[in-house]
Amino acid sequence: MDKAAVKLAPSILAADFARLGEQVAEAEQAGADRIHVDVMDGHFVPNISMGAPIVASLRRVTHLPLETHLMISDPDFFLEEFVEAGSDSFLVHWEGNANLHRTVQRIKALGKRAGVVINPATPTAVLEEMLQDVDQVLVMTVNPGFGHQHFLPTTRPKIRHVRQMLEQIKPGCDVEVDGGIDAETAPLAAAAGANVLVAGTAIFGESVGVAAAMNRLRANSIKQLEKQRAQV
Ligand code: DX5
Ligand code: ZN
Repeated sequence: MDKAAVKLAPSILAADFARLGEQVAEAEQAGADRIHVDVMDGHFVPNISMGAPIVASLRRVTHLPLETHLMISDPDFFLEEFVEAGSDSFLVHWEGNANLHRTVQRIKALGKRAGVVINPATPTAVLEEMLQDVDQVLVMTVNPGFGHQHFLPTTRPKIRHVRQMLEQIKPGCDVEVDGGIDAETAPLAAAAGANVLVAGTAIFGESVGVAAAMNRLRANSIKQLEKQRAQV
């Protein structure tokens, strides 16, 4: 099976910030498909992380697309600042956004890719009217706000359902998962229909190193997909 069947988006939330450029370069050399940047404001989620200056610094050291996961209130207010810094795509939450469709339109008007995110407690049905307009869907597999949490198994049927919905409307659209993705859970998410895996701890927190950790995530997921295909 083609390596591209499973894309990896290393989340720098788990990186060593004192060596951020180095760690991102390692991930790029090891075949990362994009870099996932978690932006938290201490209000939308109970944690504070990083802002546009980090994106601007990364833009100077990597050619990879920088995907910006906005876990903030009023995402519209910050879009232009992140675009200027070098963001290539945005992941915006359904939760708390009364004008999600407008946010997606704004992202597109800025010439960037737009993805919609749903939290574990949010049903997939809320996406139905949005799917036509988005470039990807992100199913949170933990509650947003922190790295190093456990994958929630209740999200597996949700991933499957999002994939099924997209097959009708937009086959080939990216379905991404974020939170608790490691060598054991990555194959479960891939088998359910996710083709983009965000991973922080399981890439930057592994003693085997970034490249070996990434290879293991991808290899385990592809093995699972091949097994699944053989059973059909
Ligand atoms: C959680 C963030 C994740 C986080 C994942 O709110 O959106 O991107 O970095 O971290 P791990 O892979 O450690 O669960
Ligand atoms: Zn994230």
